[in-house]
Order: sequence, then C-alpha cells, then structure tokens
Amino acid sequence: MFPRGRKLLLGVAGGISAYKSCDLLRRLQDEGFIVDVVPTAASLNFVGKATWEALSGRNVVTDLWSDVTNVPHISLAKESDLIVIAPATADLLAKLAAGRADDLLTNIVLASTSPKILVPAMHPEMWSNAATVENVKVLKERGFFVVEPAEGRMTGSDFGVGRYPDTVKIIEAVNKSIQQSADLTGKRILITAGGTREPIDPIRFIGNRSSGKQGFALAMAAASRGAQVHLVTANTDLPIIEGITTTAVETAEQMAAVLAVEFPHCDALIMSAAVADAKVLNYSDIKIKKESLGTVELDKNPDILKSLSQSKKAGQVIVGFAAETSSNESALEKSGFDKLSSKSLDIIYVNNVSGGAIFGSDKTEGLIIDNQKNVIKVPEISKDTLSDILLDQLVSKLG
Ligand code: CTP
Repeated sequence: MFPRGRKLLLGVAGGISAYKSCDLLRRLQDEGFIVDVVPTAASLNFVGKATWEALSGRNVVTDLWSDVTNVPHISLAKESDLIVIAPATADLLAKLAAGRADDLLTNIVLASTSPKILVPAMHPEMWSNAATVENVKVLKERGFFVVEPAEGRMTGSDFGVGRYPDTVKIIEAVNKSIQQSADLTGKRILITAGGTREPIDPIRFIGNRSSGKQGFALAMAAASRGAQVHLVTANTDLPIIEGITTTAVETAEQMAAVLAVEFPHCDALIMSAAVADAKVLNYSDIKIKKESLGTVELDKNPDILKSLSQSKKAGQVIVGFAAETSSNESALEKSGFDKLSSKSLDIIYVNNVSGGAIFGSDKTEGLIIDNQKNVIKVPEISKDTLSDILLDQLVSKLG
C-alpha cells in the first residue's frame, strides 16, 4: 500500500520523444511518486524495457499476456492514483477516443477511474489534423487533462506546435491533479444543470437556452476531485457521465422535489440550472388551437434556491448562478450582490448572457462574488476552468 496520491502510472507511446520520458520519470520520483511504467509495443523501438526497469526500480509489464495471474491491467488500473501518458501519439489518442483496448496500456486506461493526464507529442501536421483535433476534444470532454504540446523544432527540419513540453509543465499538471483529486474526498455535492421546461400543452413548453454544459463541467470537476456527486439535470442533450449519480427532471417543481429530498444530505449545493420563473396556470392535456394561444395565464414558480437556503444547516455551502443581460460590470456586480443576499448564498457566479452569449458555449466570463464581499473578475475562460475556480472557492468555504 502507498499513501494516497503517491502511486503513479507512466504510459509511454511510440514516439521519438519517448526518451524524454526517462527524465520525466526521474523528476516524478524526485517529487516522491512511485512510478510504474507501461510502454506500448511501438515505444520499445525507442526506449527498451530494461531502461524502464532500471530507472523505475520496478518490474515493467509490456503486454497483456505476461504476468497473467496478477491480471496486470486491472491491478495497475486500481493501484494507480494518476495516469500520465507521455508521449501520447496521434494513434494512441485515436484509440483512447474510440475506447479501444487492444494492448496493456489502453486496457488500463479503460479500467481506471483515476485522473488521467495526456502529453501529446507529434509532428505539427498530425497535431493540427482534424482527426486529432476531434479526438483531443472528445478526450477533454471525458475528463482527460491535456498538457498542450510546445512549439519548436521537430525531429527533422520542420518547426511548429507538437513538441514534447518542458518536464516542469508536466510535473505542474501532475501536482495540481493530485492535490485537486483529493480536496473534495468524502464530500457530497449536489449540482443542477440545464434549464427547466414548463409545459403549456403536450406539444409546447416555456423554456430557456441553458445547455447544461456548466453544470456537467462542475460535476466532472467535482467528481475528479474526489466528491460524491449527484447531478440533477433538466432537459440537456449531454451524454451522462459514468460514475455520477444523475437524476433527470423536466419542470421546476420536479427539480424542487428532488432537491428537497437530497439537499439535507449534501455538503454543498451548486445551482447552475436555469429555472423557469413561471409555469402555465392551466396546463391543457390536449393541444391548444392557435386561435386560443393569444393569452396563456402564468403563475410564479417557487424560488428553489431561496427556499432551500432557509433550511441550510451549519457547514453546508450554497453556490448560485445568475444570468443577467447587462454588459455594465457594476450593474452585474450589484445584481450579483442582491441575489447573493436575497437568496442567502455563500457564493454566486454572475454573468452577462446578452445576445445569446454563454448559453450553449464552451466558454464563460463573469464575476464570482462571495458572502465576504470578495469579487473575482473572471475573464473569458472555458467552463471546465471556471468549474475548478468555483470549486476552489467552495473548498475554502467548506473549511
Ligand atoms: N433559481 C431558483 N429557482 C427559481 C429561479 C432561479 O432556484 N425559480 C436559482 C437559479 O438556479 C440560480 C439563481 O436562482 O442559481 C439565480 O437565478 P436567476 O434566474 O439569475 O435569478 P432569479 O432569481 O430568477 O431572478 P430574475 O430572473 O428576476 O433575474
């Protein structure tokens, strides 16, 4: 047994830069990690098994058919707190994106629930090829962290983006991932995503543009930091995240009912869903003819966040979101503070969604405001990055 967070698996794919991973292995050991190396068959053309065994001081298994009694793909997957694949070739990225498992390394990756860091290195043309770009996007969406390749001279005379990055960059990503992977361990986090819909008749509804991307990014980030996540989704088209308990609802009232049951048992609630503020007073179970659609009477929906925060127990943390249509920063800040205090929140993320911005996008921009009156201006960043920043704030409030 090793202390949590200290056991690391270094996968090495068949690229010329495999020799640079010998130094990476040494530096990881300097950081106190115990490293098992799993080279692919192709990579052994560049760096042999004896080198990896001598440098790691551990047995190296290179294929699925050796050491079978120990079932190495399962034991290595279970024991490793983190998997780093450096270099990750275009071929390996394609295999991982397709979920293939035709050698020891790809089997381990599929069998592991630990965080995974990919360090792609290849010729610039291969890195910018649409197939590779798509594969990297898919892998990022599935929670792989990608250390971007550096720019510079390649093995031949060519120049561009695709070089194996500086070892310090990889070590930084490893340390960040290890720290992050632990700081929400044992915490139960309830997250809402998407937008509720209020039916008018069997065909029509009142809804909003929320895609659910931010809530899903938060769920993925919280789970990879060790949290036990319950994701409540409203009308999203996103694929469910394996290993995360997910409950799908349609309306605000259904969401309120699920949260009423779950909230008392969670350490934190992150309410990133866009809840419809109104519902139709008289739902018609037959299609309303267009001539009669001139007036549809509405009724106010419950403010879910406001009522849950009234039953908040000591130690629980509540994070709200606010969608505004103002590009004026001080107006955004004011409505953030107003909603923070009227809903008794610990943290609120307020953003300007004018002109359809933010909804459906992979990017976001806004202000994080907390109950200590701290305001953090968030420049345009990915929703994944915002998730980690918000979780950092949440961790500090959880104490
Ligand atoms: N919210 C909620 N229940 C509602 C409306 C909103 O729980 N009926 C939550 C949202 O999930 C979000 C926060 O309250 O976390 C702020 O939502 P927002 O739509 O920006 O604010 P509203 O309170 O609806 O105010 P308004 O629409 O008037 O700006």
